[in-house]
Amino acid sequence: MGEMELPTVREALPGDEAAWRRLWAGYTSWYKAHVPDDVTAATWARILDPGSAIFCRVAESDGHVVGFAVCILHAGSWVVDPICYLEDLFVDPGARGVGVGSALVQDLIDLGRSRGWARLYWHTQTGNEAARRIYDRFTAVDDCVRYQLVLT
Ligand SMILES: CC(C)(COP(=O)(O)OP(=O)(O)OC[C@H]1O[C@@H](n2cnc3c(N)ncnc32)[C@H](O)[C@@H]1OP(=O)(O)O)[C@@H](O)C(=O)NCCC(=O)NCCS
Repeated sequence: MGEMELPTVREALPGDEAAWRRLWAGYTSWYKAHVPDDVTAATWARILDPGSAIFCRVAESDGHVVGFAVCILHAGSWVVDPICYLEDLFVDPGARGVGVGSALVQDLIDLGRSRGWARLYWHTQTGNEAARRIYDRFTAVDDCVRYQLVLT
């Protein structure tokens, strides 16, 4: 793609809803997942709710929101300070390869340092090479494997 301004990363705002929903649809279809409309609505509502542990950072480039990181802050038993889980990371296919994804991760590191989070973590599918190329630059992969039971 052509020259693109380096993205600015900021907190998602109510006016970002249409852009976020468009990117979210791209993200869930990338995972070939169906997220019901009421879940998407609840997630967006929680993102905007300062009382919720979910928050969202958006990357803006040339005046357009081109990517997002949805995160959850939670407590931990090994540390006193909050831990940040990066649950969802997505960059518009037309804006990839120029550093937007990396900027979203770097923003969380900067934010976490300034807000006193103890840790930032995330996981991805073993074969997600595009994502892992970024992640490997920030830290080494550990040897945990994930077990998950769907309960509802
Ligand atoms: C993973 C993802 C967020 C990366 O976003 P991005 O903005 O392309 O990331 P960056 O530009 O910071 O880094 C991408 C890397 O791929 C390279 N790249 C070059 N051209 C590219 C292209 N057309 N598309 C993708 N990556 C490209 C970049 O140069 C960079 O590697 P390098 O720094 O070693 O050169 C994005 O591909 C995405 O949304 N994928 C689908 C959803 C997903 O996998 N999310 C993560 C799930 S955990």
